[in-house]
Amino acid sequence: STGPTTQHRRVLLAAPRGYCAGVDRAVVAVEKALEHYGAPVYVRKEIVHNKHVVATLSERGAIFVEDTDEVPEGARVVFSAHGVSPAVREAATVRRLETIDATCPLVTKVHREAVRFARDDFDILLIGHTGHEEVEGTAGEAPEHIQVVNSPDDVDQVTVRDPDKVVWISQTTLSVDETMETVRRLRDKFPTLQDPPSDDICYATQNRQVAVKKLAPEADLVIVVGSANSSNSVRLVEVALEAGARASHRIDRAAEIDPAWLDGVTTVGVTSGASVPEILVQDVLAYLAERGYGDVEEVRTATEDLMFSLPRELRADLGSGE
Ligand code: F3S
Repeated sequence: STGPTTQHRRVLLAAPRGYCAGVDRAVVAVEKALEHYGAPVYVRKEIVHNKHVVATLSERGAIFVEDTDEVPEGARVVFSAHGVSPAVREAATVRRLETIDATCPLVTKVHREAVRFARDDFDILLIGHTGHEEVEGTAGEAPEHIQVVNSPDDVDQVTVRDPDKVVWISQTTLSVDETMETVRRLRDKFPTLQDPPSDDICYATQNRQVAVKKLAPEADLVIVVGSANSSNSVRLVEVALEAGARASHRIDRAAEIDPAWLDGVTTVGVTSGASVPEILVQDVLAYLAERGYGDVEEVRTATEDLMFSLPRELRADLGSGE
């Protein structure tokens, strides 16, 4: 493999990629809970949307349930990084569950916005994906004030009580460009539409999109590591294609790579969603190296150092210093 074509084969590795501060905190919260209280620890929904993470924690004694009614009365349950509605918190209280809230603080911020705008009696347009856990949680803060807008094409169907008292907020893990298009169309319809006080699409989502956009125009193929239900991972495939990648595929792990994807490919871009452990990316790089793509160049567009402290219920039980 020293021919003229193969020697130019290379990988452009996006940075930032992988774990964000909210995912790291949520996964560590379950690990610490298992260590401190012992198994089993119940977790409502997938703690983060990644198959590998869920399988690993399950092996260690976490029990993933769809809802709190599956948790034995009085037992301990962790709420996932995507957040929960007040109705879920109430159901947990009624069941006398010990709760650990691993909701990402940047999701909680959006919940607070929803509560505040509902109190001020705005019609709230929540841009996001119907059925996604985060959207269910946020919408549940003020169901009578919030309607979900899935895409720019949804805007035509939106009706409000008072067109001069409308605000938009969003899911944290959307495509920035598509969201701005949705907002543009909403503003055509409601010229006095209010913006949220700060970006709802989180820093990690934005940074991963900027990085993949930078490498995509040079890439014949962009591989995104991430699970199918991971919103930010699925967005990275869309953003890569929009930005000029000739092809892009999402995979959970290296074994899902179809060798045919590499036919005629010189430059492979690689990135991963915010819920993806780095080991899965390293497996992909090893797979590619075996096929002649051993030259890896990092394309870095930002440096991240944000960290969140553990959920307060855990910090209280673990004592100081954690
Ligand atoms: Fe939080 Fe953004 Fe990660 S909302 S969980 S920091 S993708």
